[in-house]
Amino acid sequence: MIKMPFIPVSQPFIGERAKELVNECLDTGWISSQGTYVGLFEREFAKYVGASFAISVTSGTAALHLALMALEVGPGDEVIVPDLTFAATANAVLLCGARPVLCAVESATWTMDLRDCESLISPKTKAIIPVHLYGNPVDMNALLKLAESREIAIIEDCAESLGATLNEEHMGTFGTVGCYSFFANKLLSTGEGGMLTTNDAQLADRIRVLRDHGMSPEKRYWHEFAGLNYRMTNIQAAIGVAQLELLDEFTSLRTHQELLYKDLLSGVEGIIFKKEVDGAKPVNWLMSLRLVSTDESKNIKTLHQWLRENNVDSRPFFFPLHEQPPYFDNREALKSTNILSQSGLSLPTFIGLKDEQIEQICQLITRFMTTNI
Ligand SMILES: Cc1ncc(COP(=O)(O)O)c(C=O)c1O
Repeated sequence: MIKMPFIPVSQPFIGERAKELVNECLDTGWISSQGTYVGLFEREFAKYVGASFAISVTSGTAALHLALMALEVGPGDEVIVPDLTFAATANAVLLCGARPVLCAVESATWTMDLRDCESLISPKTKAIIPVHLYGNPVDMNALLKLAESREIAIIEDCAESLGATLNEEHMGTFGTVGCYSFFANKLLSTGEGGMLTTNDAQLADRIRVLRDHGMSPEKRYWHEFAGLNYRMTNIQAAIGVAQLELLDEFTSLRTHQELLYKDLLSGVEGIIFKKEVDGAKPVNWLMSLRLVSTDESKNIKTLHQWLRENNVDSRPFFFPLHEQPPYFDNREALKSTNILSQSGLSLPTFIGLKDEQIEQICQLITRFMTTNI
């Protein structure tokens, strides 16, 4: 078998339009956050997801941190986060001096278990951060019902779910705030970058001020409270504007890749895919699967290794937060995250990945699962 050229898990798409707009920033000298692409990107993004306001920032982590700060989450407060997520979700809570309370995750959807979430609500609960993990929407209507009468803010972590919808509404528009990431491997990428969305004008103003050192917009160098510099540059925003123009095309292509993977792997015993809740239209951020074979030699580690030997990269799921030092929690309900985490793998998914490459990857997986290699 001839070895194919190396296939990474993800690869950013840049495109000619982004280059054109970035060159304009460089040629005109508008490289800081003061340029016009920042406002344009925010307006177009808000329109795209259907939110009243969008505020750009330096990363998805910065978005989560600012959302919590703007909601005055601090020492003594608890924030419920899923046990399976990228650690930024919980780190942002710790950086505010609050306590992340870890919620169990469903083995079918890979997202927050809402029954467990309800059991974790206490008088100290200030916010809940549902994560639409691997592009899969959380049942937001059920979650909003839990929070309804309790004055609990909902911060949607949409880092992996831009373009996903629930009953035709974009993720990030259900809760109090939506937070997005534009890291290089994300659905829309500005290299590093992030966005917050909200329909609350006062909250949007507060986020904007906090993003800019807490400085009064009316009185330069006057600070009503302490903030940070989380401003996005005009260069990043220019890339964002160009990417947003192509986002629907990107999303369709990712869906095509998902359907092809599923079609080619659906008959392979021991491979399962995530389930979605009613009304949800997930986005295929990364083609992720679970391997649940009765043959112990067929596991994520050996599959990852086999793919690597054949020049294909893959990415295991996140480690459960409850096992890691900053978030340690030995609650029994969290044990099932270990099984999920140890059985999950993401396969190459990016703009530019060819159908033939997906076919080759699926052939490799089928060979691995059905023969004694
Ligand atoms: C679920 C989730 N939340 C938050 C983040 C943080 O985003 P960023 O890397 O832009 O800080 C990421 C990804 O990196 C993520 O996957």
